[in-house]
Amino acid sequence: MAATNKSMPIAVTDSGIGGLSTLYQLCKLMPNEDYIYFGDSLNNPYGTKDTEEVRRIVFENTQRLMSMGVKALVVACNTATGAAVRALRNTYPDFTFVGIEPAIKPASLDKSSPTVAVMATPLTLSQDKFLRLAQKYADDARVIPLPCPGLADMIEGGDLESENIKNYIDKLFSGYDLDTIDSVVLGCTHYALIEDVIQNAVGEGIKIFDGSLGVAKETKRQLLTKDLLTNKSGAGKVRVINTKVSNEPIFEIATDDPRLVLNIIEGYISK
Ligand code: DGL
Repeated sequence: MAATNKSMPIAVTDSGIGGLSTLYQLCKLMPNEDYIYFGDSLNNPYGTKDTEEVRRIVFENTQRLMSMGVKALVVACNTATGAAVRALRNTYPDFTFVGIEPAIKPASLDKSSPTVAVMATPLTLSQDKFLRLAQKYADDARVIPLPCPGLADMIEGGDLESENIKNYIDKLFSGYDLDTIDSVVLGCTHYALIEDVIQNAVGEGIKIFDGSLGVAKETKRQLLTKDLLTNKSGAGKVRVINTKVSNEPIFEIATDDPRLVLNIIEGYISK
């Protein structure tokens, strides 16, 4: 593995457009950095594959990004983090990996004995990493896992507010008395792109938790500790890869573009 340096970009990966919610927080917190956004739409969805297959895909993508010269890799996908981050750290102990996990900790500690519903892919909810996390807060909160097969695929297809999506969310919560739920954790980065639809479905009284801001802060903390924050001033650039189209960047956009997420989604859909 080549040595890393301050001027290299930060890679942000997901099985498609979900990691844009994390990229947005990274760009807000560290606008001078350059980024490579690696959306693996070709292999979407990860959440209904098995652990071995997701791990194989993540390793292949990581090696590709490392050979492009990146100083850190943010795995902006709960499913990929659960399946592969530990193995990545074991294989490349000197490299900086930041993963994302369902925000059960802040949701569980937000008030006394809350009931926390966790929306995530079937694979995330079946992994040991998730079971250990839920177990850790078992004395603080009642955690209800809500597997959402197919939801990330609908979002990946650009469906951000249709009746289909609304019906999916209504059906997901139909077996629960919403008055007894305190918070909903968005345990898949794709779901953050439809946060408004989810909030409308469950009502304003239920608080929504998403791990992306925490991931951005953790990335900054690790780069600072390793003296890897850029010296550049001015807005950095995001080079965007969509594996369905090519393994090379297909367009780029400034980190301070006010329509960053929407422009990238539009760029994806038009290709
Ligand atoms: N965005 C991914 C996550 O955070 C999952 C989407 C998929 O199933 O590919 O879990």
